Amino acid sequence: MSNLIIKGGNRLRGEVRVQGAKNSALPILAACVASGGINVIDNCPQLTDVSATLKILTYLGCKVSRDKNTITVDASCVNRYDIPRELMHEMRSSIVFLGPLLSRTGRAELYTPGGCEIGLRPVDLHISAMQQMGSDIAEEFGRIVCGSEGRLHSANISLSFPSVGTTENIIIAASTAEGTTVINNAAREPEISDLADFLNKCGADIRGAGESTVVINGVKKLHGTYHKIIPDRIVAATYMIGAAITGGNITLRETTPAHLTAVSDIFEKSGCRIRTEGDSINISAPKILKTAGTIRTMPYPGFPTDMQAPVSVMAAVSRGTTFIIESIFENRFKHIGELNRMGANIKVDGRMAVVEGVEKLCGTKVFSHDLRGGTAMVLAGLAAYGETLVAETEYIDRGCQDIEGDLRTLGADIHRENI
Ligand code: EPZ
Repeated sequence: MSNLIIKGGNRLRGEVRVQGAKNSALPILAACVASGGINVIDNCPQLTDVSATLKILTYLGCKVSRDKNTITVDASCVNRYDIPRELMHEMRSSIVFLGPLLSRTGRAELYTPGGCEIGLRPVDLHISAMQQMGSDIAEEFGRIVCGSEGRLHSANISLSFPSVGTTENIIIAASTAEGTTVINNAAREPEISDLADFLNKCGADIRGAGESTVVINGVKKLHGTYHKIIPDRIVAATYMIGAAITGGNITLRETTPAHLTAVSDIFEKSGCRIRTEGDSINISAPKILKTAGTIRTMPYPGFPTDMQAPVSVMAAVSRGTTFIIESIFENRFKHIGELNRMGANIKVDGRMAVVEGVEKLCGTKVFSHDLRGGTAMVLAGLAAYGETLVAETEYIDRGCQDIEGDLRTLGADIHRENI
């Protein structure tokens, strides 16, 4: 257990490199099971969610080694198709092993990850998609048992919601299924395109990833490959919020600016100036931020739900009233109570938070309730008077490789105390 201690008031300056994307690394590591060969995955962030994924890969029979941000997965000897409850529950997104196990073994026995801090996280879309591809699935008391006579077969699948995880499971399972599978209303997140790039390098035939319609021509077998994970757009945008709320000026290196269009638009509405050059993004902030008006979280390329908590901190210290609508997850405002204890003026009504900007926040002890809520608390500490103690940093460590190191590089007064 550890706390992060932040002394507010320093303006963020300088430059920092952005880590590889957690939400790309997790499905790609799981997809190694389907590849059946030796994979070298580079730019993998060192996170507790990545460690949990490696534990599952090892349990399934893969040989795994890690050298800092490079992970080697030898999946040539997968000898199980079941994942025990305790391993599934270490990480919310472990459901993404469903497609890889069905692709490789035709069978899968795992557990629904269950609800988490931000919502119920149902898996009905995943199950329905696998059933359409010929898997006979039984789900009982949170246990999912799947089997299919022979290979899965192709299907024309229309998703009622562009679910990221479901799109990923279908793409992986369809890579070695019989025939051509089409996904309609697929998720378009950049992490989907990164997964498809990885699988195509493994010999798959996937077209249209990143668009609403994805076509996968099943191939008999895949092989291992080398792949470098894309930059983490959420971590990049989180650091940009840090610059915005401290009147700072920072440059982020090794980013993909094109993945941040919706977020950059909000920064510009708030009075920040954004400049991009190649894989770098520079943000310079005004002394006083203006409200960005209404911010509605949407599937990509809309404003990302993972940025809702961080952007609520910017709204809390912007002049005017900001309306934040969380349209993706049903319980993603837990950080608001913590922000209000720091002096913010935010009212929540269902899926909407109404934020009346205040001059300053005041440091105090606050709690992380989930990964993005926890990073939002760290950001609030940067802009607050006095000292802020952010407890339960294990949530933050699930998705941020070294938040205190990166922010210290940018001039923040922040340190970790182990308790
Ligand atoms: C991925 O979660 C990300 N996680 C989340 O990031 C992100 O917030 C989310 O996509 C949306 O962008 C990873 O990639 C590991 P969904 P995922 O399936 O795949 C409902 C973070 O902080 N739904 O697109 O679970 C669901 O309840 C995490 O990095 C069903 O109803 O998201 C939610 O309301 C948090 N039935 C909505 O769809 C299903 O079968 C979006 O879920 C599946 C999903």
